[in-house]
Amino acid sequence: MKALVWHGTADIRCDTVPDPTIEDGRDAIIKVTSCAICGSDLHLYDHFMPGMKSGDIMGHETMGEVVEVGRDNKALKVGDRIVVPFTIICGQCDQCKRGNFSVCERSNRNKKLADAAFGHTTAGLFGYTHLTGGYAGGQAEYLRVPFADATHIKVPKGIPDEKLLFLSDIFPTGWQAAVQCDIQPEDTVAIWGCGPVGQMAIRSAILLGAKRVIAIDRVPERLTMARAGGAETIDLTQESNVVAKLNDMTDGKGPEKCIDSVGMEAHATTSLDAIYDRAKQAVMLESDRPHVLRQMIMVCRPAGVLSIPGVYGGLIDKVPFGAAMNKGLTFRMGQTHVNRWTGDLLRRIEEGQIDPSFVITHTVGLEQGPEMYRTFRDKQDGCIKVMIRP
Ligand SMILES: NC(=O)c1ccc[n+]([C@@H]2O[C@H](COP(=O)([O-])OP(=O)(O)OC[C@H]3O[C@@H](n4cnc5c(N)ncnc54)[C@H](O)[C@@H]3O)[C@@H](O)[C@H]2O)c1
Ligand SMILES: [Zn+2]
Ligand SMILES: [Zn+2]
Repeated sequence: MKALVWHGTADIRCDTVPDPTIEDGRDAIIKVTSCAICGSDLHLYDHFMPGMKSGDIMGHETMGEVVEVGRDNKALKVGDRIVVPFTIICGQCDQCKRGNFSVCERSNRNKKLADAAFGHTTAGLFGYTHLTGGYAGGQAEYLRVPFADATHIKVPKGIPDEKLLFLSDIFPTGWQAAVQCDIQPEDTVAIWGCGPVGQMAIRSAILLGAKRVIAIDRVPERLTMARAGGAETIDLTQESNVVAKLNDMTDGKGPEKCIDSVGMEAHATTSLDAIYDRAKQAVMLESDRPHVLRQMIMVCRPAGVLSIPGVYGGLIDKVPFGAAMNKGLTFRMGQTHVNRWTGDLLRRIEEGQIDPSFVITHTVGLEQGPEMYRTFRDKQDGCIKVMIRP
């Protein structure tokens, strides 16, 4: 089959690789009808996230048709249409029973690596480093879904792929980010990053009743899309002091809730902390650039909430923890517990409350995948979200 394969920094190729096969009784194989490139994939493309090996198949936003089912899998049958959550879940461990799916205790087959890096293991993820299991990803013609009797979202036929695909990741990710803010009717929610995750967070915060949403980015078409979703915007190319601007916009008090949908590759060209991060990251003394996190801690209203869907991989530096502690801030974060939200979100799509396909700007075949990684990373050609139809 054809698949998008990681070969090194900024080197993803459309290769011919062996078809996946059933390896365990709970598995299923799907023929991929649609998949997408995520901002998280860019951390691998840029190689800021360690743990990839040459030859790994990329991709964790995937859906398709079940073509083969393992003998112990009683939940799926050939012909079922499923969206695949990016977090692989056993459905049976203590964490899965509590709905904490992204920290499933059993699905990471490289548990020891994750134990060493994080103190305790987290869930296996598709196409996302050997730290999270080294599982083949779904930017491919076929995908083996491990623990597939639990790791799936069954979707009805008759709704097009583009409305459903993002149940795999970015829609529940934006939703969880907003839910974790515990939004009250008087709240202003500030959202850093108007990429696909930020866009979903904006719409989720509004659906959940925020009084105001203020979105921050520097890419014009992303800011336009944010305003179309109901946000006020701050354009970083016009406004260098985001903290001062947000204070201005909130009578000097700061937003009650702050969402970081940027993560470890935050841009900041001139500030001192940004220069410091870049220098330390270059010599591998710091793995991530927490520029947004620092701004959120400083600008958030005391007793407010910081919600962090943006991915961080390792160590960060010069975080004003004293400000966070003394202001009594609450931190909520994590990889998304996808299946915790998807029943509710599928219903909202079916009822027409939201159509997540608004974010798609490019639809291509697998062969164009490698060039689309670059286009998406460099924000060329108005690219906001790439959907791939293998
Ligand atoms: N927690 C999860 O489960 C989960 C799931 C999906 C994605 N993510 C993470 O969410 C983040 C966003 O993903 P995406 O797909 O939207 O990616 P993206 O790269 O398309 O979007 C990031 C956006 O942040 C903007 N940005 C950069 N620096 C900024 C700054 N200093 N201030 C404000 N905006 C800034 C960029 O211009 C860009 O538009 C990534 O870190 C990704 O790994 C997390
Ligand atoms: Zn993702
Ligand atoms: Zn589990």
